[in-house]
Amino acid sequence: DGKLRKPVVVWVDGCFDMMHYGHANALRQAKAMADILVVGVHSDAEILVNKGPTVMKEQERYAAVAACKWVDVVVPDAPYFTTLHVLDKFHCDFCVHGDDITTLADGTDCYQEVKDANRYRECKRTQGVSTTELVGRMLLMTKDHHKRRSSLAQSPITHFKSEELEGFSSGASKSAPYTTISHFLPTSRRIVQFSEGREPMPGDKVVYVDGDFDLFHVGHIELLRAAKAQGDYLLVGVHDDQTVNAIKGSNFPLMNLHERVLSVLACRFVDEVVIGAPFKVTKEVLEKVYKVDVVVVAKPEHDIDGADPYALPRAMGIAQRKLYEERKSACCAKETQIADEFDL
Ligand code: CTP
Repeated sequence: DGKLRKPVVVWVDGCFDMMHYGHANALRQAKAMADILVVGVHSDAEILVNKGPTVMKEQERYAAVAACKWVDVVVPDAPYFTTLHVLDKFHCDFCVHGDDITTLADGTDCYQEVKDANRYRECKRTQGVSTTELVGRMLLMTKDHHKRRSSLAQSPITHFKSEELEGFSSGASKSAPYTTISHFLPTSRRIVQFSEGREPMPGDKVVYVDGDFDLFHVGHIELLRAAKAQGDYLLVGVHDDQTVNAIKGSNFPLMNLHERVLSVLACRFVDEVVIGAPFKVTKEVLEKVYKVDVVVVAKPEHDIDGADPYALPRAMGIAQRKLYEERKSACCAKETQIADEFDL
């Protein structure tokens, strides 16, 4: 009726370790109850005392939450116990948590105080994904995948093993390692919920970037941020599982196409996603969805057949290579860190 009402401010807190689409889905549901969503993220020290060590360091976890498109404010170093004092301090009306157990091993409930004050709401927890489960997928990987990947990088043709592709189909193949380790059932509804996309406005500069976006991390976020800064509208191509496996080999990808698409869609810099984009940046990719003005080079410039996947955008003079080296070092550093931590 035109009257000004006080905005609803909602609090969510958590560890957000190896931020995944389950976390993003909780934040999406919380934002649907809010005008302003404030997310408190616990420090490494706070989690260590209450739960155990994290995979990702706090700066990475803060950055991952900040990149989620439903988040308005990030509060670093949030206390593990959610008190009324915390809610009041950040002007939050109530807090939201997934409908899983909120009690610690000793039986204390981190949310008892806000529950008693009726300032606690629940959202639906996403089945089939958790930090522990993602770590499990990483531990199931064979140790030789690093060797194979580094040799692949030098010569994609000679080291590519055709038998690795056997049993793969465009659908979910039971014999593919990545489909047996993912327990996520993708639905079109979830993809719609995560999309909420806008179309480019007339005159908008459309940027295209593609990749695997497996185990979505800060390296990906930085790439997408930088890509978006090249124009006004960011279209992201996510390669299908078969393509990722053919390029990376072994047990990759660890997340299936639908999971990877959800992670990318949850990122605030992304406007639209091509689901299962070809490795080669084709005429279709550059014209059929939207007319692409800039292609950000984000992966090695040789396909499994040795050809340059960016040959077309390069010939058209729209390939932007500047970001590539930066991304390569950021991603390698991250992957090496994860591998070291898990002794892969
Ligand atoms: N969450 C969710 N679905 C998941 C995982 C987490 O809805 N699959 C929600 C949690 O219920 C919580 C928020 O995301 O409201 C932050 O969770 P976090 O504190 O990071 O911890 P966990 O619940 O332990 O998440 P995970 O099991 O992935 O570590």
